[in-house]
Amino acid sequence: MKTHKLLAFSALFAGSLAFAQQGFAAEDPDARAAETESQMTPGERKVLTYGLMAVPFGDFALPEGAVPGAGYVAGIERLGVPPLTETDASLGVSYAGGVRKDGATALPSGMALGSTWNPELMRKAGAMIGGEARAKGFNVMLAGSINLIRDPRNGRTFEYLGEDPLHSGLLGGAAVAGIQSVHVISTLKHFALNGQETGRHFVDVKIGDGAARESDLLAFEIAIERGDPGSVMCAYNLVKGAYTCDSDYLLNKVLKQDWGFKGWVMSDWGAVPGLEAAMNGLDQQSGAQIDKAIFFGEPLSEAAATDKRWAERLSDMNRRILRSIYAVGVDKHPPVKQDIDFAANGDIAQETAEQGIVLLRNRGGALPLAKTVKRIAVIGGFANDGVLSGGGSSQVQGLGGPIISVPLAGADSIFASIIAQNYHRSSPLKAIGKLAPEAKISYRDGRYVADAVIAAEQADVAIVFATQWMTEGFDVPDLSLPSGQDSLIAAVAKANPNTIVVLETGGPVAMPWLEKTAAVLAAWYPGARGGDAIARIIFGDVNPSGRLPVTFPASVAQLPRPELDGARTVEPSFVGVRAPGQVLTVDYDIEGSDIGYRWFARKKHKALFPFGFGLSYTEFEHGALSLARDGERLTATFRVANKGLRAGAEVAQVYLISGAGEKKHRLAGFQRVELAPGESREVSVTLEPRILAEWEDGKWRIAAGRYAFALGKSAEDLGAPANIALEERSWGY
Ligand code: BGC
Repeated sequence: MKTHKLLAFSALFAGSLAFAQQGFAAEDPDARAAETESQMTPGERKVLTYGLMAVPFGDFALPEGAVPGAGYVAGIERLGVPPLTETDASLGVSYAGGVRKDGATALPSGMALGSTWNPELMRKAGAMIGGEARAKGFNVMLAGSINLIRDPRNGRTFEYLGEDPLHSGLLGGAAVAGIQSVHVISTLKHFALNGQETGRHFVDVKIGDGAARESDLLAFEIAIERGDPGSVMCAYNLVKGAYTCDSDYLLNKVLKQDWGFKGWVMSDWGAVPGLEAAMNGLDQQSGAQIDKAIFFGEPLSEAAATDKRWAERLSDMNRRILRSIYAVGVDKHPPVKQDIDFAANGDIAQETAEQGIVLLRNRGGALPLAKTVKRIAVIGGFANDGVLSGGGSSQVQGLGGPIISVPLAGADSIFASIIAQNYHRSSPLKAIGKLAPEAKISYRDGRYVADAVIAAEQADVAIVFATQWMTEGFDVPDLSLPSGQDSLIAAVAKANPNTIVVLETGGPVAMPWLEKTAAVLAAWYPGARGGDAIARIIFGDVNPSGRLPVTFPASVAQLPRPELDGARTVEPSFVGVRAPGQVLTVDYDIEGSDIGYRWFARKKHKALFPFGFGLSYTEFEHGALSLARDGERLTATFRVANKGLRAGAEVAQVYLISGAGEKKHRLAGFQRVELAPGESREVSVTLEPRILAEWEDGKWRIAAGRYAFALGKSAEDLGAPANIALEERSWGY
């Protein structure tokens, strides 16, 4: 009922705005924002500066006009400014703890999306979830989760796209562009250096400017260029002693001044320390009920009434928010409540899963399985019913809710519904049965090794589904598969050499049983149609083309922090209550900008599976790499050939391996190429100049000298290098 009210309201706005704009020729969002802002009364100037959680919370009822979800910012009817109706998140319209009982299409997790290495598909997936948001009455999606994976134990690994700034920037930017293409504003988050959940409200990141600019910040910079998000969401953590939502360095200096970001900065929910944050660049306080006070709104008005500096800041805050509303067209294209075509959207979720599943091991061509296989034992992972999804604010639920929900908090906890291991209604077992209708398929839940072993012994093939659940709010302590699953896999693989392991994990895991298995698939959290996607890959209806966006370490000893910061000092908690003065300093200067594979190269560690790795059912051959320069534009050209008998997709990766006499290891460009059997194609990839540069003294600098690049099948499998001489070049903002 409330939704309808809002929609009618929005339509009214659109009409009155069109009228108001007659005679106002400029469609330029800056000009329009300045014009609207100049007409605001002092009372109206505070309206957009804060939002409330769009759920009944404590003493606060659901805000009038809100669509139940993550947040609500009131509009200004007189000026045709629509209210902002906000929903999580990057993987689809979130369930918001069940406040709305509707369903939405769940994309596979961020790791799966990252494994596609396919910006066009990201854009399509973005447009799909943006369309669902709009059909439910939302005009803002809290999407664009692109924090780099500095540590695979980070509980939100499953939400993020990978460990490389160029890769995450390009894919994340494309997703944002897709969402905004349907007139829904997207955020990029969480800005910045939000690398772990343990102590998430008081982690203080120590990092040098150069290291930050060349890594996490570069991902955001590229994504902003590609996606032009209406908003950037600052994070919970501190950087160099300041809360990111109160960080003059991050918000004013880097984001707005250096990068010229024209949209607005919204806070994460409960991340605002006080009014002064506005002066340090924060434009909007979100979910304000959960901060200590509504710092923005009235207190801002009061400050602006007597102090010109505050009045100017307040005008800028309003202009920024208005600008994004106009730039994305939220005012002229308000959300229209309509039915969702779940079949068509499910196809997109399935396509992303099929491109995102990574074949890690395939001993003697064990996969694809012949559809004539006689006896299959399916074991574990609730594979009879569904596929796992990640927990927290990004949790999406399909129609009818989860098929299985394993609670981890008591039903009286307000977080019970979001801290639960939820399984989407897409049964791998049924999908396998559909593709191998003649096979006798038995299922064991995997709680006991003994019966799983008997089932495996009696089958031609055993398929073990192993899960590692991750959630916002908590990190995982190590890379093991919990609840004895490592022993289960080892025992099953011993009982049946044709054991295939399907991993449904949030991120990288260790595999002590690896050598005993026939094949391993990283299916991540494969989303609304995950069961079908997995089965189609197992039987070869789809040729796997995913490539790892993250390094799988052989053990935690290889990580920059073998023990997670705070493991001994911080009590795990979703809310992360902070004791007065409590700070958990984490030193990101250990690895600096050498995250993931770059750290592994520096330390000469051999990964269990390297960044960029992924097998196919066909064979690809790379031709020689040649480099060309046209002014400042550097291009790598090479041929890719499909030497096998099946169509497939290769992801060609161009790595910088040395520059001006120094060893480097950086992804400088990539291209996913689909090839028919026997086909070969010439591919050109533009190389990103900031990847060649160092950030020094407030500038990007490419030192004069020879630069060597190599074409890679992964970060550890590189072809012959090619060189090019570059002159000294430096540039700032
Ligand atoms: C998360 C954000 C999310 C917000 C609103 C926070 O806890 O960190 O990613 O968008 O809640 O639900």
